[in-house]
Amino acid sequence: MTAGVITIDGPGGAGKGTVSLAVAHQLGWGYLDSGALYRVLGLSAVRKQIAFENEAAVAAEAARLGVSFGADDPNLGVRVLLDGEEVTQEIRTEQAGKTASQVAALPAVRTALLQRQRDFEQPPGVVADGRDMGTTVFPHAGLKIFLTASAEERAKRRYKQLIKKGDDANIRALQQEIEARDRMDSERSASPLKAADDAITLDTTLMSIDDVVSTVLAMAAERGLSAE
Ligand code: C5P
Repeated sequence: MTAGVITIDGPGGAGKGTVSLAVAHQLGWGYLDSGALYRVLGLSAVRKQIAFENEAAVAAEAARLGVSFGADDPNLGVRVLLDGEEVTQEIRTEQAGKTASQVAALPAVRTALLQRQRDFEQPPGVVADGRDMGTTVFPHAGLKIFLTASAEERAKRRYKQLIKKGDDANIRALQQEIEARDRMDSERSASPLKAADDAITLDTTLMSIDDVVSTVLAMAAERGLSAE
């Protein structure tokens, strides 16, 4: 039995995680949150005081990283464990996103994490969420989506998520952080954030999550990618 692959790439806060999880649930497929791998790696490197300038040491940490995923939580998304310790909340902060983006810019780190991501391609299928799922990790995916929304709208969504979790947030500061991370992710030379040539771009600024999910599911069905 072969596995189907749907990739959902795009900038931070475009709703990739929520949409990918919902699509995976509807299809009965697995889900890869590739950003969580970079976030956990960043956390682990900080804890072990590995300097980000030391690319070989960060890549060695990426290769040995004891990361595992648990069931998903309606507010937190997929539960993430580092060497058995739950770090789901700790890796979701804006600071953890920035740290993730720094380690993600290192080519040796991306190479070290490549096979681990490809191992998620299991029957009946996987929905993979990230920046380079369609361009680098799963270039053969049956459906590639590039999800975007205006920076203002993405900041608003992040703000609502944080408030829902009971965190403090400032919408202007969030927008600046989101734009800074987009710049860092788009301008790096290793697997920069960009739509694959064969990706379908969906601007979700004026769409509800439910609309986006049903649009993606309709595209999947058109391509014969559906629940077994
Ligand atoms: O998607 P998320 O916000 O969790 O990703 C955190 C960071 O990890 C991104 O800003 C990006 O730098 C990096 N990342 C990446 N490639 C991926 C997924 C995430 O470089 N496939």
